[in-house]
Amino acid sequence: MENEQECVGNVKQQLAKLFDASLKATFPTGPDVEPLVAACTSKFGDYQCNNAMGIFSKIRGQNTEYKKPASVGEAIVKNLPPSEMIESCSVAGPGFVNVVLSKNWIAKNIQKMLIDGIETWAPQLQVKKAVVDFSSPNIAKEMHVGHLRSTIIGDSLARMLEFSNVEVLRRNHVGDWGTQFGMLIEYLFEMFPNFEDVNETAIGDLQAFYKASKQRFDSDPAFKERAQKAVVSLQGGEPKYHKAWARICEISRKEFDKVYKCLKIQIEEKGESFYNPYIPGIIETLSEQGLVEESQGARVIFIEGVNIPLIVVKSDGGYNYASTDLTALWEDIHNDCSVATDLSVFLYRLNEEKAEWIIYVTDVGQQQHFDMVFSAAKRAGWLPADGSTYPKVSHVGFGLVLGEDGKRFRTRSSEVVRLVDLLDEAKSRSKTELIKRGKDEEWTEDELEQTVEAVGYGAVKYADLKNNRLTNYTFNFDQMLNDKGNTAVYLLYAHARICSIIRKSKKDIEELKNTDSLVLDHADERALGLHLLQFSEVVEEACSNLLPNVLCEYLYNLSENFTRFYSNCQVVGSAEETSRLLLCEATARVMRKCFHLLGIEPVYKI
Ligand code: ARG
Repeated sequence: MENEQECVGNVKQQLAKLFDASLKATFPTGPDVEPLVAACTSKFGDYQCNNAMGIFSKIRGQNTEYKKPASVGEAIVKNLPPSEMIESCSVAGPGFVNVVLSKNWIAKNIQKMLIDGIETWAPQLQVKKAVVDFSSPNIAKEMHVGHLRSTIIGDSLARMLEFSNVEVLRRNHVGDWGTQFGMLIEYLFEMFPNFEDVNETAIGDLQAFYKASKQRFDSDPAFKERAQKAVVSLQGGEPKYHKAWARICEISRKEFDKVYKCLKIQIEEKGESFYNPYIPGIIETLSEQGLVEESQGARVIFIEGVNIPLIVVKSDGGYNYASTDLTALWEDIHNDCSVATDLSVFLYRLNEEKAEWIIYVTDVGQQQHFDMVFSAAKRAGWLPADGSTYPKVSHVGFGLVLGEDGKRFRTRSSEVVRLVDLLDEAKSRSKTELIKRGKDEEWTEDELEQTVEAVGYGAVKYADLKNNRLTNYTFNFDQMLNDKGNTAVYLLYAHARICSIIRKSKKDIEELKNTDSLVLDHADERALGLHLLQFSEVVEEACSNLLPNVLCEYLYNLSENFTRFYSNCQVVGSAEETSRLLLCEATARVMRKCFHLLGIEPVYKI
């Protein structure tokens, strides 16, 4: 516990501190255990400390005063330092210690957040700098729904880490290098002799261009030969080839940027081509360490427990996905690509700006690739062997997006779904819905447009993020745009309604929060207040386990808690009006922060 910084909003952490003190006082000579504190939803309490049973089994048989686990629980309660956060404690069953928090303490903390800002509820993580490698489409190939998932999940993880004061490098590891460029370049030369003037409208559809060049490659041996030579020329740095390559990348990039613009994604491109010149040095270093072996003409690294080795140099002498990823990983943890020179050692020591956590967001199909890259990096001593200390690497895998037929999501003509089309459709459907509600009459065009985008794109993002990322999910516009149930639309409307309650009261919240106090006397006020206060620990959990769905679940429950409160507690016109308005405001603020962390734009009226 010692090196963990404290976050004012983190209830669990604060309770853990109290229990830690009690455990040390109760068992000064050991066993030395970490406090196990968890939120619970029982009628006995808000949190539980679950150490008694474990301790009892450790001291059992030693001649102590404790004859059953419950008496260990009693002693833990007795030695708990006095604290204003706790209302009461009780021991239940085989020794669970239940904690009821003080409602005044909850209220005070929420009010404090209203005054000092929700940033004071940001979790404190041990990491200071992280890389989130996400989206990462391939040049000239389709950016498919898998890339959409990576983009949405990666952006949300980056947002949560940024909120937690981690410096995040948002990395677009685009597939912009490799043998496919030979055929693309040759085909470009063939189709457009003045290729430098070619723009995206001339090529039209880069995917179709890719397909056509592939067809040419497969059917014409002479073309194939030229394409293979083109790869060599490109890798040799011949200007004409390099220019053609850059042109193709540029056209592709414009396509990707359309998606990023719609979804408001910030990301920095550092593609495969960046690492290419450094690969030989890295392979050299790994070879000197004795890690690289010959196998069937290729150069490979064997990984314990895996029967196929990681190929780092193909039998034709070329590099591959793995050699690039190893080099990129080296670069991230050393912040310097040149290796095995005294200078690099010097820079390595000097430079404190290294990434401590490198996170890769791809479909689960790439899990084995990353496991092997990570194992190789551990064998090389780049990463700690047990994965418990920094630098740390994590593969964030996700499942498939399915169509209504339960198969991979495709268009009717079984083409890959174009992301831009999909986003356009979400937007136009949300527009139709809002026009049906007469909003085009009620709002300005700008307001309508903004809401249409917030709702449409928000729906797509939320439908993805709310599932545990490892599971497959079915893409369904009707479902995600439904205003009932666990959808972005429902949540955005709920938030807008809270804002309208506040507006209609005609009270100045900025003034109220400093002059009036928040009280949580009604059971539903207290339940809502407690849920609000758990925001920080939920974000922390979502960050540490890299699971945005944890935050979605929290947000949905928040909305449910609010509905219960609002149907049972009159706000405007009641004796408790000011306090309840403050509770409304706190709910709206936490909801907005959740939206922000999920990459969803809030709406204020509906
Ligand atoms: N371009 C790859 C793909 O489309 C994803 C790259 C992920 N990042 C990485 N460092 N390998 O599957």
